[in-house]
Amino acid sequence: MNKKAETIAVLDIGSSKVVCLIGQREPNFGVRLIGAGFGVSAGLRNGAVIDMEAAETGIRIAVEKAERAAGVTVQSVCVNVALRSLRSQHMNVQTAFASGEVADRDLKRVLNSSLAELAQPEDAILHAIPLNWSVDDEAGIRDPRGMFGQRLGVDMHFILAGVGPLRNLAHCIERCHLDISSVTVSPYAAGIGVLTDDERDLGVTVIDMGGGITTAAVFRDNTMVHVDALSVGGKNVTNDIARGLTTPAEAAERIKTIYGSALHGSDDSDVMVPCPPMGAQEELHHHPRDLLTSIIRSRIEETFELLRDRIAESGLETYSGRRIVLTGGGCQLNGVRELAEYVFNKRVRIGRPHGILGMRETMSGPDFAVATGLLKHAFMESDEAISGPPDLSGQRYRQRRYSGNTLGRSLQWLKENF
Ligand SMILES: Nc1ncnc2c1ncn2[C@@H]1O[C@H](COP(=O)(O)OP(=O)(O)OP(=O)(O)O)[C@@H](O)[C@H]1O
Ligand SMILES: [Mg+2]
Repeated sequence: MNKKAETIAVLDIGSSKVVCLIGQREPNFGVRLIGAGFGVSAGLRNGAVIDMEAAETGIRIAVEKAERAAGVTVQSVCVNVALRSLRSQHMNVQTAFASGEVADRDLKRVLNSSLAELAQPEDAILHAIPLNWSVDDEAGIRDPRGMFGQRLGVDMHFILAGVGPLRNLAHCIERCHLDISSVTVSPYAAGIGVLTDDERDLGVTVIDMGGGITTAAVFRDNTMVHVDALSVGGKNVTNDIARGLTTPAEAAERIKTIYGSALHGSDDSDVMVPCPPMGAQEELHHHPRDLLTSIIRSRIEETFELLRDRIAESGLETYSGRRIVLTGGGCQLNGVRELAEYVFNKRVRIGRPHGILGMRETMSGPDFAVATGLLKHAFMESDEAISGPPDLSGQRYRQRRYSGNTLGRSLQWLKENF
């Protein structure tokens, strides 16, 4: 970025679209959007890069458009990650300390212990969030510095993803001559983009329904306590329609947005949906909307049920609050909100991005939640123990204890935090 200080670019690389936003800090008013660019995404499947060249083209187009609009050159970007391998790992670590009063170095030591225990070379740490600190028997402490005791503990929440697809994504961005300044998982960004402070505090689950992948994050006490991902998205719905109504995928996508609903309506059996033929020889045919609704409902219901069961298995069911917020293009389908209420038995709303000045009406939909959240996150003070892009070397963390600079960029402790 060469024009002004405090200008940050973010990149939401999705399976359907790529969005680049450039924001600038506005004294006293937060963050202002100064440029935006979009590109059609090709080359990604279920959030992962499968065609390097095609993915690179989408990124270049989005970044160039945003650069032109903002009148700046982008050198580094904050990017999102949504991969099926996304998962949460919780860990409690305790260390003894001698000094009597908890100081920065004690926090670093206990955080290093947790990193050393998390020895999984096939995964990279995307986020490491200290949820709670404890001093001796006193738990639930937000900031233990200055307290007296003999034992310091921390509940850590690590968010991990497979190293392979992350390397491909990083390589793709590097091929566009861009540095990665940070990586944020999509549902975390979506939550920052659309949630209210109350929701984040009292407990809420954000479900980002993208084209190729559905991801979820549970927020509670103003922090993220869980993530999950399913490699199913709006494209699967479209493919189901194409197969079920024997029509090309392009037509199925159009039919989905015009006639589609996840819930049956009273006139479903009367309305006939025109379906273009697969081949040139055949003719336009019609199917009752009933059939279309059944196809859509079964896919989305299955996705929600899977997510519901997985969140229940994680033991966070009661912790995750009474509310669900949906984001991503997939939740714009009629009836999806109501179907989510039915499956989860919770209050559900559609999350629209807020909190950035200068956002145009075209960017006010739930499919811009992730990009907006990335921008807000980039300007926010982070609660995370590590920052910057993840280490993708695949080495064991055990061998990479924090000691000055040897961990490189991947484990720069946020000195503001400690
Ligand atoms: N009005 C609409 N009705 C139904 N579906 C819609 C509508 N608008 C967008 N979608 C669907 O939303 C999906 C794209 O959502 P989104 O833009 O959030 O995906 P993405 O971020 O590119 O992908 P991902 O996050 O999965 O990698 C597509 O499958 C599209 O069919
Ligand atoms: Mg997305």
